[in-house]
Amino acid sequence: MTSAAASLLKVSFVPVYRDNYAYILQTKCGAIGVVDPGEAEPVIHTLDDMGLVPDYIFVTHYHWDHADGVAELKSYYPSAKVIAPDIEKQKIDIVDVPVRHNQILAFGKQRVRVIATPGHTLGSTCYYFEEGKAVFTGDTLFSLSCGGLFEGTPEQMYSSFEKLKALPDETLLYCGHEYTRASAGFCLRVDPNNSDLKARIEQVKDLCNKGLPTLPSTIGMEKKTNVFMRLNSAKEYRELRQRKLSY
Ligand SMILES: [Fe+2]
Repeated sequence: MTSAAASLLKVSFVPVYRDNYAYILQTKCGAIGVVDPGEAEPVIHTLDDMGLVPDYIFVTHYHWDHADGVAELKSYYPSAKVIAPDIEKQKIDIVDVPVRHNQILAFGKQRVRVIATPGHTLGSTCYYFEEGKAVFTGDTLFSLSCGGLFEGTPEQMYSSFEKLKALPDETLLYCGHEYTRASAGFCLRVDPNNSDLKARIEQVKDLCNKGLPTLPSTIGMEKKTNVFMRLNSAKEYRELRQRKLSY
């Protein structure tokens, strides 16, 4: 499945496991990237079909469904550089370029800003492609929901949301899982009179019925519809998280 998401950055979806997405990135100048290869075989198969060899492998966090394909991909494409959070480098098989918050990476002629978004894991990292106007959020932010708070504090998670909310509204959101339809009910329970949310849910149902990804979303869309992007404090996040856990 391919989405011509933005003219400067072509993003192809590679479904892996039950509901994860890995992504293949291409720029016009020929830079090739992979995001979150939880499983190598489907990513290699897709790259081979497309006749591509990756230059970079971006990893958002160490969880197996995002990083388990790294070693096999690296053995298949030894010139590819593995980019991953510095504080999780011991937990990922191979890391060539450990990264920290606000670091700027070159992806061909494009710039990628590293956004540290601790909460789901302490090293969870988003990659913002400035020219391509796209952000890859792993398990920090999903469309209509967010990742579980496994390692960080509510304050860290809320601060991570704030960093993502500060991106331009038109930024395309590519996250690690196809959870959008499953997340719609909770959003609607919390925010039942939100007409933007209702319209988004209809769109999501239509895409799912056609067997299509519900992504990319946009930061602007999530700010209008995702209850986790409509909070004003860590205290509100703490309360909403409790409500979701008992939902
Ligand atoms: Fe995860």
